[in-house]
Amino acid sequence: VTVVRSFEPDDAGACAAIVVATPLWQPTGRSAEQWAALLTGAARDDVVLVLDDGAPIGFAWVDLRGGFGRSAYLRMIAVAPTRRSTGLGMMLLEAFERLAIAQGPDAFLLVSDGNRDAQRFYERHGYTVVGRIADYPTAGAVELLLRKRLTVRL
Ligand SMILES: CC(C)(COP(=O)(O)OP(=O)(O)OC[C@H]1O[C@@H](n2cnc3c(N)ncnc32)[C@H](O)[C@@H]1OP(=O)(O)O)[C@@H](O)C(=O)NCCC(=O)NCCS
Repeated sequence: VTVVRSFEPDDAGACAAIVVATPLWQPTGRSAEQWAALLTGAARDDVVLVLDDGAPIGFAWVDLRGGFGRSAYLRMIAVAPTRRSTGLGMMLLEAFERLAIAQGPDAFLLVSDGNRDAQRFYERHGYTVVGRIADYPTAGAVELLLRKRLTVRL
């Protein structure tokens, strides 16, 4: 069985391995050890959800008030490279939305302008582009701001 549960300190290494295996995050230059420390801190300050099928195969970092201090913000979401496109990311996204709806009717996230695959994933789940942030987080980069109105209780 595959479940979504809270992050535990022992998950840090497996989650960090997923991040360093994902080209999207390689420009950060962070090592697996640095990611493990970052995610451990995130689980303390925010909410980190882990997708577990016996071992961690994905995670989502949720800042409950990261959307303008008011709405939930999905800071990071990742599924292990060999496990993508089988509906597992959807389980994490739905778990994020269950947390988000407790904060209010909106969910927010950022996606890189070039990350068309992830954009398709979010669009299919009801997110729409509501903004474009140029030169963020670094010069020359562009992030799209996506919003979903969570009108239906999940
Ligand atoms: C985005 C992601 C979490 C979705 O998880 P998933 O288990 O693959 O998702 P699902 O099976 O529920 O949905 C599949 C969709 O995810 C997206 N997807 C698949 N592989 C992807 C990849 N390498 N990068 C980005 N998105 C991807 C596609 O839209 C795919 O739809 P398709 O089958 O029509 O191509 C996962 O693909 C991933 O970890 N991608 C790399 C990291 C990333 O881009 N995160 C989002 C940053 S904002």
